[in-house]
Amino acid sequence: MSLTVTALSVWLAALLALYLLDNPKPVQPLREGVARLPVMGYNTWNAYYCDIDEALILKTANLMKSLGLADAGYDHVNIDDCYSEKTRSASGDIVANKDRFPSGMNNLTDQIHALGFKAGIYSDSGWFTCQLYPGSYSNEARDAKLFQDWGFDYLKYDNCAVPFDNITRQNIIGRYEPMTTAISDLAQMSGKPPLALSLCQWGREQPWLWARKFGQSWRTTDDIESTWDSIASIINQNSFITWASDFYGHNDMDILEVGNGALTYEETKSHFTAWAMMKSPLLIGTDLSSATKDTLEILTNPEIIAINQDPVVGTSISPFRWGTNSDWVSNKTHPAQYWSGESQNGTVFMLLNTLDESSTLFFNLTESPWIRAGRQYSVRDLWTHTDNGTAIRNFTAHDVAPHGVVALLLKDAGDEPKGLWPPCAVWEWCMNENGTRID
Ligand SMILES: *[C@@H]1O[C@H](CO)[C@@H](O)[C@H](O)[C@H]1NC(C)=O
Ligand SMILES: *[C@@H]1O[C@H](CO)[C@@H](O)[C@H](O)[C@H]1NC(C)=O
Ligand SMILES: *[C@@H]1O[C@H](CO)[C@@H](O)[C@H](O)[C@H]1NC(C)=O
Ligand SMILES: *[C@@H]1O[C@H](CO)[C@@H](O)[C@H](O)[C@H]1NC(C)=O
Ligand SMILES: *[C@@H]1O[C@H](CO)[C@@H](O)[C@H](O)[C@H]1NC(C)=O
Ligand SMILES: *[C@@H]1O[C@H](CO)[C@@H](O)[C@H](O)[C@H]1NC(C)=O
Ligand SMILES: *[C@@H]1O[C@H](CO)[C@@H](O)[C@H](O)[C@H]1NC(C)=O
Ligand SMILES: *[C@@H]1O[C@H](CO)[C@@H](O)[C@H](O)[C@H]1NC(C)=O
Repeated sequence: MSLTVTALSVWLAALLALYLLDNPKPVQPLREGVARLPVMGYNTWNAYYCDIDEALILKTANLMKSLGLADAGYDHVNIDDCYSEKTRSASGDIVANKDRFPSGMNNLTDQIHALGFKAGIYSDSGWFTCQLYPGSYSNEARDAKLFQDWGFDYLKYDNCAVPFDNITRQNIIGRYEPMTTAISDLAQMSGKPPLALSLCQWGREQPWLWARKFGQSWRTTDDIESTWDSIASIINQNSFITWASDFYGHNDMDILEVGNGALTYEETKSHFTAWAMMKSPLLIGTDLSSATKDTLEILTNPEIIAINQDPVVGTSISPFRWGTNSDWVSNKTHPAQYWSGESQNGTVFMLLNTLDESSTLFFNLTESPWIRAGRQYSVRDLWTHTDNGTAIRNFTAHDVAPHGVVALLLKDAGDEPKGLWPPCAVWEWCMNENGTRID
């Protein structure tokens, strides 16, 4: 009898093991509580590439404080690729580069934390990172534990140097799943908040369709470049997937080029407005020691940041009319021009002048689905920080600079004046009580 039971349980255990091998347990979404809002902070890649060390990172963190960026909400200092030795230790761990991080990662994260920031680190779902440092493939749990032990709060997880298909037997989802599971398991075991996981899988795998369960943000495009064409192209691509962003999961439009002299002042404002209002993470990517007054004014605009960090509304703005081109037309150089969305305090609008000359941008208020017909709205200009009167039925932004932007907050200000004509925004639905149509 007892032999039979033992044999049976061995048999059942074997069956279960076989079953689990073929049917891995479903991914547990990363525990809520981290990165509900888009992450704001600094990332070392665009300004420094591999040329990073602990002194630079601490200097940057100190500049973030002294320049007012910390007060404006930038609370992450994130290290990108190239921080480690090229090979793991004998026991299999990633080792911090001894020349560039001589005090060790715990020392560094202690100091970052002492300055009031969270600390971010970087790895890759393949054999190697993009710069050929150790990747986390097949070491996910070990590395997640190491990053937590090192004191990091956030992990950017890249997509280079992936193993052959005959090794992974996985597509992109299966290659990101192990780190998600490792972080989730680690959080449950340690009782500490999970590392915020920022997927860096570039965009061609359509992460907006699947990545919400895997991380708090996912890249939607290839790497940003410091040109208006790159900014316009990223806005264009993201204009079709705005629905994917909400609390705990964000389309990541990539590191900010605000402060890069290759962009004009107006282009920089458009870039920052689009990233903020589309609820992208806001990661500064330029050398802060040369930040100008204009750069800092843009990066710290409190009324634009408030939309990005809206505690009540997590969704992105979306186009309500494309403008220069027909609606729903994808055009890398001329993305949609007329955008709106909900916010805690009213409806926000972004008007983009995608043309190379200045132009006047006009819209009827009810073109935005969040505006009520028959009402009037107070207008707040979020760049000039002025109250710009009351909009009745429509709004005109005159002479918007080439590649420039207008950002507005419209608040309901009661019924519109009596006697305006036409009586309805949409004529073909506009009917008298006695059944005759108004037109
Ligand atoms: C970190 O390292 C620096 C330089 O080696 C040292 O002065 C400092 O005491 C260390 N701090 C901590 C918290 O260990
Ligand atoms: C996978 O494919 C590569 C290239 O075709 C081959 O060299 C290798 O032996 C294969 N590996 C396995 C584990 O099948
Ligand atoms: C809404 O208004 C309040 C009060 O002015 C402000 O503190 C908050 O940041 C605003 N929220 C947004 C999303 O703009
Ligand atoms: C993009 O839009 C501009 C402005 O309408 C137009 O001149 C250009 O030909 C369009 N490009 C493509 C590839 O359709
Ligand atoms: C704005 O509303 C007016 C009056 O109803 C209408 O004639 C015009 O076509 C509308 N324009 C747009 C861009 O919707
Ligand atoms: C804009 O609305 C006003 C009413 O406030 C109306 O008089 C005017 O004709 C509208 N303009 C357009 C172009 O529809
Ligand atoms: C709002 O008013 C300010 C101050 O008069 C002005 O500079 C700005 O251009 C106005 N904004 C718009 C969109 O017209
Ligand atoms: C229907 O009502 C409208 C608005 O009150 C009026 O102008 C129109 O003459 C009426 N038509 C009929 C057929 O009663």
